[in-house]
Amino acid sequence: MARDRRDTYYWRAKDEGFRSRAAYKLFQINEKHNIIKPGDTIVDLGAAPGGWLEVAKKLSDGRIVGVDLQRISPIEGVETIKGDITSDRTIEKILEMVGEAGADVVICDAAPNLSGNWSLDHARSIDLTTSALECAKKILKPGGNFVVKVFQGDMFKDFLDEVRNNFTFTRSYSPKASRSQSAEIYVIGKKFLTSPVRRGNEFEVEIKELGSSGDGAVLIDNFVVFVKGVELGDRVRIKIQDVKPNFAFAEVIGNLE
Ligand SMILES: C[S@@+](CC[C@H](N)C(=O)[O-])C[C@H]1O[C@@H](n2cnc3c(N)ncnc32)[C@H](O)[C@@H]1O
Repeated sequence: MARDRRDTYYWRAKDEGFRSRAAYKLFQINEKHNIIKPGDTIVDLGAAPGGWLEVAKKLSDGRIVGVDLQRISPIEGVETIKGDITSDRTIEKILEMVGEAGADVVICDAAPNLSGNWSLDHARSIDLTTSALECAKKILKPGGNFVVKVFQGDMFKDFLDEVRNNFTFTRSYSPKASRSQSAEIYVIGKKFLTSPVRRGNEFEVEIKELGSSGDGAVLIDNFVVFVKGVELGDRVRIKIQDVKPNFAFAEVIGNLE
């Protein structure tokens, strides 16, 4: 193919020695959203040929693990696993490598084999990204960050809500290095939540304490939930509205008795 028929990022990757033009997508995602910091343990799901691994290695001097169905040719300071990210055995192998403490960051640029049929490809992509999210939930440290590629379509919003339920901040982002005609978008989840409550959960509680702002404060599995518009002694049904790393907010949806 003539040089001018390939795009800028293809040639930049060649000139700057990265294995793939995708490398620039991770640089741009990180520039905009500060996902990776020096020293982070990073797990890259669907990592071959290894452009993101090279970028991860540049951004962090911590442990870097790449996983792919394909063999990834060696990169200094990077460990690799040949395996399927949808299988429990692969997740166990990742956990053996990153240890009990878990990973600070999970990134996933995995793509299913594309058929050219838009809705089939979208469904396959959502399947794969859902597996990546499940894997991230098992290997991330509390407060860790997650980036995943999704092909857009009608199930995208539900997937975004699923990410939103597990992270303090959730955004979607299209880096400049994505091809303009591409349906891909990256979902970014920051600060992995390990709290026992999730947005939309409902509980029956008795208000036995008030916080300093005057809101009711109840403990659910030792996690503080603030409830607006209640008084001491009220017995109410509440619905969780927002979850932060160390506490949550809930609204009253009914009185008990
Ligand atoms: C677009 S490439 C990743 C490019 C990489 N980020 C880079 O910068 O070099 C997508 C990769 O996802 C991998 N993949 C797809 N499904 C997978 C699965 N179930 N388990 C592991 N890897 C998978 C493919 O083998 C492929 O290598």
